[in-house]
Amino acid sequence: MAKKKTAFVCSDCGAEFARWQGQCSECKAWNTVTEFRVPSAKAAPQGGVTSGYAGFVEAKVQTLDEVNLEQLPRFSTGFTEFDRVLGGGVVPGSAILIGGSPGAGKSTVLLQTMCRLAESMNTLYVTGEESLQQVAMRATRLGLPTNKLKTLAETSVETICQLALREKPSIMVIDSIQVMHMNDIQSAPGSVSQVRESAAYLTRFAKQNQVAIIMVGHVTKDGTLAGPKVLEHCIDCSILLEGSADSRFRTLRGNKNRFGAVNELGVFAMTSQGLKEVSNPSAIFLNRGEAQTPGSLVMVIWEGTRPLLVEVQALVDYSQLANPRRVTVGLEQNRLAMLLAVLHRHGGLQVSDQDVFVNVVGGVKVTETSADLALIAALVSSFKNQSLDRQLVVFGEVGLGGEIRPVPSGQERLREASKHGFTRAIVPKANQPKEKIEGMEIVAVSSLSEALEALF
Ligand code: TYD
Ligand code: MG
Repeated sequence: MAKKKTAFVCSDCGAEFARWQGQCSECKAWNTVTEFRVPSAKAAPQGGVTSGYAGFVEAKVQTLDEVNLEQLPRFSTGFTEFDRVLGGGVVPGSAILIGGSPGAGKSTVLLQTMCRLAESMNTLYVTGEESLQQVAMRATRLGLPTNKLKTLAETSVETICQLALREKPSIMVIDSIQVMHMNDIQSAPGSVSQVRESAAYLTRFAKQNQVAIIMVGHVTKDGTLAGPKVLEHCIDCSILLEGSADSRFRTLRGNKNRFGAVNELGVFAMTSQGLKEVSNPSAIFLNRGEAQTPGSLVMVIWEGTRPLLVEVQALVDYSQLANPRRVTVGLEQNRLAMLLAVLHRHGGLQVSDQDVFVNVVGGVKVTETSADLALIAALVSSFKNQSLDRQLVVFGEVGLGGEIRPVPSGQERLREASKHGFTRAIVPKANQPKEKIEGMEIVAVSSLSEALEALF
């Protein structure tokens, strides 16, 4: 038997070291370097010598035109929101990782998907966390068809692959990758080496046998996929199911996708009947009270391939502190600092003795620059204690020179706003639509001072 080697691997970035160290010198994270037992040569063949390995075919060298392009079409998960995040459905033979904190609803959404898919194709649901009774009970309670879906309670990756080879499913769920283990590796399930090797094995299995595999991954406190950021290298799609425990809403967001666009957002609501998709997310994020308050405003952001209307709120108030606070929720703190500087220089508004709090309603995270103008408008509105028009939407990027820059897909954003009953919009000059939008007054601005004039 070949001698086992050990390496030291950072669980965050996957960098390898010859000896243990307290801080990873690649990503500078502390206490993430753990011992990793490199499996013996027999257990993990290098360079594609894979005969004798469950479900693996002999590798051969081909030119690109010899590659069989006869691809199976994508299939739908039955949830349009889920399909959208995947880039139009599941690609056969792809490895998908779905992450989320405990209780986010990963098992629920996958059980719903698989039970429905089982009606039309061969499916296998592998659970390592729950017993089969628990899964069956949940499916019955959710009123899902239970007579077609094949289930298996198992945690050994080799056994799962052997059984899958016999059952020949087109799609397989592994719940979750953290409890899976490979017999050849000594360390405990959930450790870096187990998770990394199990995921790599399953991914190879998916590719060679044209089985789409969806793996569930847990998320750590700070929101990254537990341990193995290293996992993201080998899988095809990585998606996150997010949502706070006190909110009904769950968002599904693509992080990496080899077969489609990333940053697509799918919105779901958790109900007593499991997860239901929300086809009109703007409507839920816009659920506002009756009175219009100062510092609050609706902006149009772009999520993946569609516009989303969300409310941004700002509170600017006199500060007792020597260093007034700058707090943002759902927006980048540096962006706020920059916009406050622009507001001072080009809008003549001094807030150095004021605390500034900014919040994007509904737990939405905005990473787009089109929120700049709306944020400034909210800040000024709160500072002046002057409410803005309830029927107003604002979007646009603000440059350091106080200029208002265009953002992509202006027309679609305006149409979405019009659909939700907004009647006035302040937009960058270059985003002014060529044809009129029914029932919408559009004010095109090219500088911050013009925008402030139009607003107040
Ligand atoms: P689950 O899918 O088990 O979460 P995960 O696998 O991501 O850890 O979902 C568990 C939560 O979902 C639980 O806290 C209760 C809630 N839930 C409902 O509200 N309604 C339902 O019909 C189901 C099945 C779960
Ligand atoms: Mg679960």
